[in-house]
Amino acid sequence: MAKSKTFCCSACGASFSKWSGRCEACGDWNTISEEKPLSAGPASKSLGAKRGSAVTLTDLSSEQAPPPRTTSGISELDRVLGGGLVAASAILVGGDPGIGKSTLLLQAAARFAQSGLDTLYVSGEEAIAQIQMRARRLGLADAPVRLAAETNLRDILTTMEVERPQLVIIDSIQTMWSDNVESAPGSVSQVRAAAHELTSFAKKRGLSVIMVGHVTKDGQIAGPRVVEHMVDTVLYFEGERGHQFRILRSVKNRFGPADEIGVFEMTGSGLAEVTNPSALFLSERGAPSPGSVVFSGIEGTRPVLVELQALVAPSPHSQPRRTVVGWDSGRLAMILAVLEARCGIPFTGLDVYLNVAGGLKISEPAADLAVAAALLSAREDAALPADTVIFGEISLSGALRPASQTENRLKEAQKLGFTAAIAPAGGKTGPDSGLTLTRPADLTSFVGEVFGAG
Ligand code: TYD
Ligand code: MG
Repeated sequence: MAKSKTFCCSACGASFSKWSGRCEACGDWNTISEEKPLSAGPASKSLGAKRGSAVTLTDLSSEQAPPPRTTSGISELDRVLGGGLVAASAILVGGDPGIGKSTLLLQAAARFAQSGLDTLYVSGEEAIAQIQMRARRLGLADAPVRLAAETNLRDILTTMEVERPQLVIIDSIQTMWSDNVESAPGSVSQVRAAAHELTSFAKKRGLSVIMVGHVTKDGQIAGPRVVEHMVDTVLYFEGERGHQFRILRSVKNRFGPADEIGVFEMTGSGLAEVTNPSALFLSERGAPSPGSVVFSGIEGTRPVLVELQALVAPSPHSQPRRTVVGWDSGRLAMILAVLEARCGIPFTGLDVYLNVAGGLKISEPAADLAVAAALLSAREDAALPADTVIFGEISLSGALRPASQTENRLKEAQKLGFTAAIAPAGGKTGPDSGLTLTRPADLTSFVGEVFGAG
């Protein structure tokens, strides 16, 4: 009898009975590969044949101590983790190749080890000598970290059982392979099995595990989404190749706020913390120029000032270009549409480029008004005053909505030497921000007040 085969999509995890070039579930190309089934475990036996034991139940109000945490002393990392590393937690760190994941984790390993955690660093990508060389470059050669270069999951689990470390770093999950699974290393079932084994071992033995995950072309952690569901915390390490800034962002955290960011700078001797990101993001700003606007944003729990840059030019194309770096292109289209429909300012026949300086990615709708200001300033070729920050949300009707945490945004601007702010009426400004406030009610009055046209 021919054995039935299963095929699985590495992007979304959907399974099929036959191979095809494109996944019908998520539409991705070349993501489907054959899956070898796991051998039948106890779960596949009928419940009647073998009963489990009753679990202990508790109620919502019983006192549970907060989970114990260890801080690394790298405050940008500790904050993103929600205040330090929680014991018995599983963390996945994703990022583009060469962005600095191994560097970050080796530095973290060294600092956690110096804080008293028994730390094991397992690399499936680099030889021991390479890691030692990097440690010397980072000035961490004396840190009490134990190293291994290994990809066999069974050997790694046995080592963890014998050595009983408190923190294990796995670089990367895609290089690990389990001999229980027949597929090749890096395949969906291998990644899933390795992540599952490591996570459940961590939970059972009370140790923490940090796994590096490679990302695919479109920036998602390669392998099935289930891996992200398995772990407690998912962090992304982002940055632009040409820039020194690196941003560690929590996209999921069972032990702290999601969307928190930590900012680092890649230097000749490893990653340095950036404790004042606003100053860094604004440091390259020159004299006031058309299209440049400073946005006072909130990233996680912290206000961050960034410069938005727009360029608007007559288009030689029949379909003008709309290019965005660091912001949502759909949101840009919406703002262009609102400017045209509500304020009568058309962008037809004009190419529009929008860039968030410094390589930061912004997802807040509060940037709407700053984007609109940058677009108008570029279109009118009129520079805005250099000492003004702008923020606020624009609705489709052309009305302006106050952004959350108006007070914190203003405080940060004042701290960095700004003297004026433009923000929608309605947001709580706090006692005295010390800034000259302009508070337009809608987009039309904003255009009138700032650009002297209506
Ligand atoms: P790496 O941590 O190997 O990236 P990943 O694990 O995400 O693939 O970082 C590689 C890059 O970082 C490499 O291009 C060199 C650079 N780098 C520095 O600039 N300074 C340093 O001290 C180190 C260790 C690396
Ligand atoms: Mg690496």
